[in-house]
Amino acid sequence: MNQVTEDAIKTLLQQINYPGYDDNIISFGIVKSIKIQEKRITVELKFNTDDQDKKSQVKKNIQEVLSSEIPDRKIMVIEGLPTLTPPGPPQPSQDPWAGRAPIPGVKSIIAVASGKGGVGKSTVSTNLAIALAQEGLKIGLLDSDIYGPSIHIMMGVDERPRISEAQKLLPIEKFEIKMMSMGFLLDKDTPVIWRGPLVNKAIEQFLRDVDWGELDTLVIDLPPGTGDVQLSLIQKVPMTGAIVVTTPQEVALVDARRGHQMFQKLNLHSFGIVENMSYYINNASGEKVYIFGQGGGARAAEELGIPFLGEIPIEPEIAEGGDAGVPIVAKNPESAASVAFKEIARKLIAAGLLERVAG
Ligand SMILES: Nc1ncnc2c1ncn2[C@@H]1O[C@H](COP(=O)(O)OP(=O)(O)OP(=O)(O)O)[C@@H](O)[C@H]1O
Ligand SMILES: [Mg+2]
Repeated sequence: MNQVTEDAIKTLLQQINYPGYDDNIISFGIVKSIKIQEKRITVELKFNTDDQDKKSQVKKNIQEVLSSEIPDRKIMVIEGLPTLTPPGPPQPSQDPWAGRAPIPGVKSIIAVASGKGGVGKSTVSTNLAIALAQEGLKIGLLDSDIYGPSIHIMMGVDERPRISEAQKLLPIEKFEIKMMSMGFLLDKDTPVIWRGPLVNKAIEQFLRDVDWGELDTLVIDLPPGTGDVQLSLIQKVPMTGAIVVTTPQEVALVDARRGHQMFQKLNLHSFGIVENMSYYINNASGEKVYIFGQGGGARAAEELGIPFLGEIPIEPEIAEGGDAGVPIVAKNPESAASVAFKEIARKLIAAGLLERVAG
């Protein structure tokens, strides 16, 4: 194709009929938006059906037609792109960017947070980081849980970072991402008995004294809660935004709201809510079983006026992968959970949420 324009793409999409009909998908009205970026084209769809077969048929057809006509760009077909309402104009006294030094070479920084512990932040951080890297982005992953690091276990890293000539700590590279965690530096049995000021110092060093190089996005796995560590971390660097992880139970949802409120106070974008452990798939019937009730995360997102980014199923392979040091997105990219993680990664990219340049 000579020139990639919205009209040219629409013309291509008119070749695709809606399954079972003579009408094409454009006249059917399911193509909600077309977004053209330097390296990718995103087609956003809005279906009036729940028929999964029809949906995947349409997505597959779009993927095929556009990839063959426009081979030099990545094609993303997405249902429901998140849109952001800004957290409000910054007050001069609380400009979120004031007093925060960017990390040179790092274009955007996102935090993965939760009000409640154990809901799957580290699982989401690791898998999302790998999924973003698989989309071609240069990704860093920082485990900011100084007291209870877990990234080293989940990523299967058993080596110590080296020091560069410039006396910087070199991140460990695996699964195409660069990582740093207190777990790389401590012996297995060392108790972490540091107090507040030292924790602050450690985080400061992880941000400033690590040779992160050029990154599109640094993903920061936050410790659980909305306490001092989280606050001081968020105040130290110009964050692009945060993702709140929750599980469907009401207790977790209440804490997720609290997490969002913390970001609001700090004038930080909430990119949206990820609901983890939403359902499991009944192996015999293939049905989704929502043991904790369906739609809690989505309702909380709606109530808070922030996007709902997606549901991650409960899969034994996620826990096994976490323990064995190979996250599911790397180990079994076809699993329902991996597909869900990849969809969230694509939504973040396609919505342009990772593009804010620090500084
Ligand atoms: N969708 C899932 N299916 C199955 N197991 C999961 C899923 N998500 C997380 N787990 C498992 O639940 C446990 C807790 O997850 P994880 O460590 O990611 O939570 P966390 O929010 O980071 O916890 P913490 O608050 O302690 O930092 C881990 O053993 C993980 O493997
Ligand atoms: Mg964790």
